Amino acid sequence: MSEIKVSLVNVSKTFDGKHPNDRVGAVNDVSFDVYDGEFFAMLGPSGCGKTTTLRLIAGFEQPTSGMILINDIPMQGIPPYQRPVNTVFQDYVLFPHMTILQNVMFGLEMAHVPKKEAERRAREALELVQLPNVANRKPRELSGGQQQRVAVARAIVNRPSVLLLDEPLGALDLKLRRDMQVELKTMQEEIGITFIYVTHDQEEALTMADRIAVMQGGRVLQIGTPSEIYETPATRFVADFIGETNFLSGKLTDVNGSYGTFALDDDVHIPVLLHEPLAVGDTATLAIRPERITLTDYEDQTPYPELVSVFAQVQQVQYIGTDTRYQVRVGEQSLRVRVQNTDFQKANRFKERQYVRLLWNKANARLLLE
Ligand SMILES: Nc1ncnc2c1ncn2[C@@H]1O[C@H](COP(=O)(O)OP(=O)(O)O)[C@@H](O)[C@H]1O
Ligand SMILES: [Mg+2]
Repeated sequence: MSEIKVSLVNVSKTFDGKHPNDRVGAVNDVSFDVYDGEFFAMLGPSGCGKTTTLRLIAGFEQPTSGMILINDIPMQGIPPYQRPVNTVFQDYVLFPHMTILQNVMFGLEMAHVPKKEAERRAREALELVQLPNVANRKPRELSGGQQQRVAVARAIVNRPSVLLLDEPLGALDLKLRRDMQVELKTMQEEIGITFIYVTHDQEEALTMADRIAVMQGGRVLQIGTPSEIYETPATRFVADFIGETNFLSGKLTDVNGSYGTFALDDDVHIPVLLHEPLAVGDTATLAIRPERITLTDYEDQTPYPELVSVFAQVQQVQYIGTDTRYQVRVGEQSLRVRVQNTDFQKANRFKERQYVRLLWNKANARLLLE
């Protein structure tokens, strides 16, 4: 087990408003550990408390309650510049009149590192972000992606234990963003610095992070690896926020250990696995990803012992090249199904209004309380 680098213990932050009633609970009882060398992402919609959490770790804000430790040392009373962290903000600013090298050296010179040593370290940092040849250029001569990398070089030049990144790719267009995601991740693995990375982009978190904390309303809802978060979302919010999910509402009509029967209505009964303490009569939501459902012919009588088989009617067919997306009706409810167009699974095999069978593995459908 690698060592814990950053620890948040029951951290809350309330901002006082102009009036006593205006108090905003920005961060609410947040606890997590980030390990040495880890790429840890905080993911959630705008306003869920990501930036505030990052600012608390950096020391720009003080917690209303709870404790933050970095390298096992409580951070209370320690000002930002004495914490072993650096921050890269979304709206990072490079000094336009300075060269790239001067921009990267700036912080070291402020900290009275001798000029020679500062330059050596700055060149090293530029090499780490794969920009050794732009040292003498001005920021405006660099592309957006290159400027972003200079911002990272500037933040790692004094070798922080932890780099805090607040939506650092937010200003870039989608294509560049995707390239930078791969680059930043590779860079992080090479440098070995712990990253705490804030984003509202679920794809970004899934592709980059070792672990993700999903936040909503100042709280952490779930922490896990990308596949844990995607495959076994703990709540409806997490299932909905990460990727695309179908939600079917219904009621449990039978419970037998970890097996149950979930009824959408009088006619549609679906065998389910139970992960939550649920009893007969409870209402719940069945969550299933569009790509985990397979379509087959209505007449297909092959017994599929491992699979759930549900009758449905195709409502809409959308061909998008790699996949075909179907909207199908099950009882009174609607589901999206995504089928990959392989040779084996012929594109557009099913037409609108056609009756079909949906098949899925029980393990891929999760019954959620909320
Ligand atoms: N300095 C502040 N004063 C008052 N309210 C704030 C302040 N900073 C953030 N908030 C509020 O705290 C909540 C969380 O904000 P923030 O941490 O910026 O969210 P995120 O980064 O996830 O978008 C929001 O409701 C926001 O308006
Ligand atoms: Mg923010």
